Amino acid sequence: MSVLVTGGAGYIGSHTVVELLNNNMEVIMIDDFSNSKPQVLENIKKITGKDFKFYEIDYSNRKELEKVFKENPDIDGVINFAGFKAVGESVQKPIDYYINNVSGALVLLDTMKKYNVKKFVFSSSATVYGEENEIPYVETMKTGGTTNPYGTTKLFIEQILKDIYKSDNSWDIAILRYFNPIGSHESGLIGEEPQGIPNNLMPYIVRVACGKLKELSIFGNDYPTKDGTGVRDYIHVVDLAKGHVKAIEKLNKERSGLYIYNLGTGIGYSVLDIVNTFEKVTNQKVPYKIVERREGDIAEFYANAEKAKNELGWIAEKSLEDMCRDSWNYIVKNLT
Ligand code: UFG
Repeated sequence: MSVLVTGGAGYIGSHTVVELLNNNMEVIMIDDFSNSKPQVLENIKKITGKDFKFYEIDYSNRKELEKVFKENPDIDGVINFAGFKAVGESVQKPIDYYINNVSGALVLLDTMKKYNVKKFVFSSSATVYGEENEIPYVETMKTGGTTNPYGTTKLFIEQILKDIYKSDNSWDIAILRYFNPIGSHESGLIGEEPQGIPNNLMPYIVRVACGKLKELSIFGNDYPTKDGTGVRDYIHVVDLAKGHVKAIEKLNKERSGLYIYNLGTGIGYSVLDIVNTFEKVTNQKVPYKIVERREGDIAEFYANAEKAKNELGWIAEKSLEDMCRDSWNYIVKNLT
């Protein structure tokens, strides 16, 4: 199978490309390096011992995208990772987020239609469940009530995909709702590298542990959770990447359909669980202070991951210890 991967040099994209290559799939990658580095390409080749085609283009540039489809008539399906993903930034720059994420996806889908490529895997997020649903989140729950433009772009694109499928059910679409990906490939050659001061928990913790940042601020310890800190479903990025392989394989087998899957472990860990496990596994200290709650945060959410298990034969296999060890390993190899 030949798969076009947009945003393939990014954090989740690069791990997925490794798994696709390991499963003997042919990969054609697009990335504009707006939030990644060219070195990632070499590192993927080092890990897998395999090669792939690469185009340095913006996925929303119709002319350049068409060139990719013209030059690669064998493309069977597309996995779309391209897009902006910083929640806080999306509040400051909503137009940029709607243009890049929503218009970009539309250009991609329209081009796919033109070249009769109708298998599409989309990177969605647990954020589409909004604030009202009970936990654990199940795919059949209503979506909506997102609290920032980033989340709303995911919601809109999900709706666009449902409308496309309704209009033409020869499409094969998988919407994957990610929970909180952390960790990195065990080689330490690829990983997460947010620009500037990180917003997400694990990138912040590793920078505190290596001394680049002074201390972690824990956003609230008065939530109605087991220890008062926020609870999330952290998933190892390699497990997440394997979920994409299962999804694109399913689309390749099925005649057509639109499928939605949660990709999470089904287990919730608190911020203090993460800090304590990280300290234990890495032998590093993570000084922290408790501060006010962060606006827009929910107390607790995690996945019901049964559907992906039953229909894709996929489960997250790696433990929280693995996630902490591998997150740290990447930092030790790259930033210290
Ligand atoms: N947290 C801290 N201190 C920090 C950073 C985070 O205490 O410096 C806490 C948060 O309050 C929360 C938990 O750690 O309780 C996780 O926060 P993250 O920012 O790592 O992740 P979120 O759950 O807020 O958001 C993530 C992704 C979004 C996605 C969302 C829902 O970043 O893209 O999950 O899937 F939309």
